[in-house]
Amino acid sequence: MMVGKSSFIFFASIALFFASTVQAQHEDHMVYVDVYYESLCPDSIKFFTKQLYPSLQTNLSHFVNLTLLPYGKSDYTTVQNQLEFTCHHGPFECEGNKIQACALALIEKGQPSEGLGYNRITVGFINCLMDKVDRQTSNTTFPLKECAEINQVTNYVDIDNCAHHVDGSKHLSTLGELTKNLKPPLTSVPTIVFNKQYRKEDSDLAQENFVRALCQYIHHDKPAECSGSSGLKTSFTILVLLVSLAFAKLF
Ligand SMILES: *[C@@H]1O[C@H](CO)[C@@H](O)[C@H](O)[C@H]1NC(C)=O
Ligand SMILES: *[C@@H]1O[C@H](CO)[C@@H](O)[C@H](O)[C@H]1NC(C)=O
Ligand SMILES: *[C@@H]1O[C@H](CO)[C@@H](O)[C@H](O)[C@H]1NC(C)=O
Repeated sequence: MMVGKSSFIFFASIALFFASTVQAQHEDHMVYVDVYYESLCPDSIKFFTKQLYPSLQTNLSHFVNLTLLPYGKSDYTTVQNQLEFTCHHGPFECEGNKIQACALALIEKGQPSEGLGYNRITVGFINCLMDKVDRQTSNTTFPLKECAEINQVTNYVDIDNCAHHVDGSKHLSTLGELTKNLKPPLTSVPTIVFNKQYRKEDSDLAQENFVRALCQYIHHDKPAECSGSSGLKTSFTILVLLVSLAFAKLF
């Protein structure tokens, strides 16, 4: 009788263990990716248009819970009840950051697209602005209308108004507070943080190879984009497990 009871407990524990891992897979399936950057920073433009955006056009998009923070090394003060910003690459960058802050708040009310951890239209729109900004020595223009048309942004006039009025300043100051909360404080732009834990090696790797940096954090049901040595590692682990099980049965 004792034997029956303990083996029941044994099998029940195994069943519970498997049930809990299946549950965990669903909950931890997404990776938080926080991007601290600036609208006119060349390295930010390179990261966004060459690494982040192309990666999100693949199945990896389903693994990313994205937070965009177009603020970087900006600063702001309140002068006579008005927020005044200074930006790393000058006043036009403040305008670009405000446009993006407004886009993040206003496109589809800032809601993520179905099944994704970010809004697909907003990310496409921002990618376009980063890619096509026209920087002249004395003037910079953000191709709002053109990028809105390419990405089917229907309310770009609202975004334009927001960016050039007090709402844009408010949205940008919110991103400023989030940026100032980063620990350790931001030193280089862009900075990419995975799962809310800053690691310099991840941020550097992401700029060279975002897919590889992200895939380090995808542990279950890795998409084909992640395949490489890590796929072999998984098969090897399974093989070792099977062999150990066979031995356990034998002795
Ligand atoms: C995404 O994954 C599915 C299977 O999970 C596959 O059929 C499809 O081809 C993949 N799409 C891309 C763009 O890789
Ligand atoms: C992404 O993270 C936010 C904040 O934690 C959460 O509310 C949201 O449900 C997540 N999105 C997905 C698709 O998991
Ligand atoms: C910059 O260019 C835009 C569009 O060409 C124009 O409307 C604006 O007045 C210019 N701004 C400055 C400061 O020259």
